[in-house]
Amino acid sequence: MFVHTVDKNTTLAMVEMRDADELFALVEASRMYLREWLPWVDTAVSVEDSKTFAEAAQKQYVDGDGFQCCIRYRGRIAGIIGFSRVDWLNRCVQIGYWLDEEIQGRGIMTACCRVFVEFAFTQYRLHRVEIRVATENQKSRAIPERLGFTCDGTLHEAEWLNDHFVDSAVYSMLHDDWKRPEQ
Ligand SMILES: CC(C)(COP(=O)(O)OP(=O)(O)OC[C@H]1O[C@@H](n2cnc3c(N)ncnc32)[C@H](O)[C@@H]1OP(=O)(O)O)[C@@H](O)C(=O)NCCC(=O)NCCS
Repeated sequence: MFVHTVDKNTTLAMVEMRDADELFALVEASRMYLREWLPWVDTAVSVEDSKTFAEAAQKQYVDGDGFQCCIRYRGRIAGIIGFSRVDWLNRCVQIGYWLDEEIQGRGIMTACCRVFVEFAFTQYRLHRVEIRVATENQKSRAIPERLGFTCDGTLHEAEWLNDHFVDSAVYSMLHDDWKRPEQ
């Protein structure tokens, strides 16, 4: 099981079935804010959907294809960060994330992303980490940019978001370009 202390207030721990109630309560409370950029929000209508997410996350981990973490801030669930299923052939993975609106603006997600990128390169020994973001989602774009990712370009109308297509900016970091945290 992956458990990691990010700083004195923030921890990462793999999503478990017992997190489903708290996770769903956060989604329910944040629905309008989250649906602006996350296509799954409108389909998450009951705690059963959070259980389905937790179950899929456990299967992903058991299959050796990445994992999802709850971000806990001062003990309570404040968001999710996770890997897409790892593309082992091309040694590549994507990172996805969301954070409670109330605790934005403190660098929490940038710090959590740094942990995930480090894990991808040192533990999974991958070659490339990607972050895909709707081009208009400036807060999210700032995260890979802050971490030194390169913007490879735009995938036009690549994501269906509630009722329209949006363009996706593709950011990448290569193993050899990643600066270790201690450097
Ligand atoms: C995208 C999202 C995670 C960004 O959250 P965030 O709080 O802006 O990101 P971070 O936790 O990295 O914090 C960065 C902010 O903290 C500030 N900050 C403070 N201390 C910092 C530190 N030590 N390091 C980095 N940033 C710091 C930055 O200046 C920035 O604030 P600003 O937006 O006022 O410039 C959040 O807005 C979200 O979940 N949105 C809805 C879902 C979503 O869009 N998900 C992504 C889909 S691709």
